[in-house]
Amino acid sequence: MVSMQLFVYPEKIFVKKISEEISLLLKKKPSAVIALPTGSSPLALYKELVKQCIQGKIDFSKAVFMNLDEYAGLSRENKYSYAFFLRKNFLGKINAQEKNIFLFNGAENLQKQAREREALVKRIGIDLALLGIGQNGHIAFNEPGTRFDSKTGIASLKAATRKINSRFFGAGEEVPKKAVTMGLGTILRAKKIILIAKGRKKALAVKKMFERPSLKIPASFLQRHKNALVFCDAEAALLLNKTNKNR
Ligand code: GLP
Repeated sequence: MVSMQLFVYPEKIFVKKISEEISLLLKKKPSAVIALPTGSSPLALYKELVKQCIQGKIDFSKAVFMNLDEYAGLSRENKYSYAFFLRKNFLGKINAQEKNIFLFNGAENLQKQAREREALVKRIGIDLALLGIGQNGHIAFNEPGTRFDSKTGIASLKAATRKINSRFFGAGEEVPKKAVTMGLGTILRAKKIILIAKGRKKALAVKKMFERPSLKIPASFLQRHKNALVFCDAEAALLLNKTNKNR
């Protein structure tokens, strides 16, 4: 049984709706723990949240942040790292406190950081996991084939994922072959999950994530979560049928 809720809106609208969710969450629980994705999908949302924070409409001063994943070998200062991306586009522009920010460091011991992240999640939980989706249905760096109960650990990236993600890297720069990622099981422990999908290139993955859960589409395991919301634009929702859309 699919319990994920689907919302199809233009990006401008779903960004407003998600920022309202986040604002409400922080009003109820100022120290809420939020897991953050990287990539183009959350960029407009980050922009909106930064704007609202500057306007004093949203307060992140007690919120706790962790990133979902990071490339192996890239330090937090490396401009292609996810840590750098999140600082540049979001965390460095809001009133978050440094002590409340937990970012992987791709250049340090990943196994150790994976164990620490599992312990952190056990200790403080995750109130909201924001997610994007890869064209092959991956979430964070949980590639097809990942078990639904996987823990935070080291993942090998598929050639297709590396090729797609190479758009963020400079000419002649190699996309790392490995990454550290929060596990599917770890992400599924979040109290609430919000996945953002936009653009025609995501349409097949979005269609498949609403079909029978399968190892081939890691995002399909979000169906096992009681409070998972999927926000799509019309292009990403193009291959969904009416039953899905009326959810
Ligand atoms: C990467 C990240 C994912 C992200 C995905 C989609 O592989 N590891 O966390 O969701 O790309 O990125 P985009 O939003 O740029 O399409």
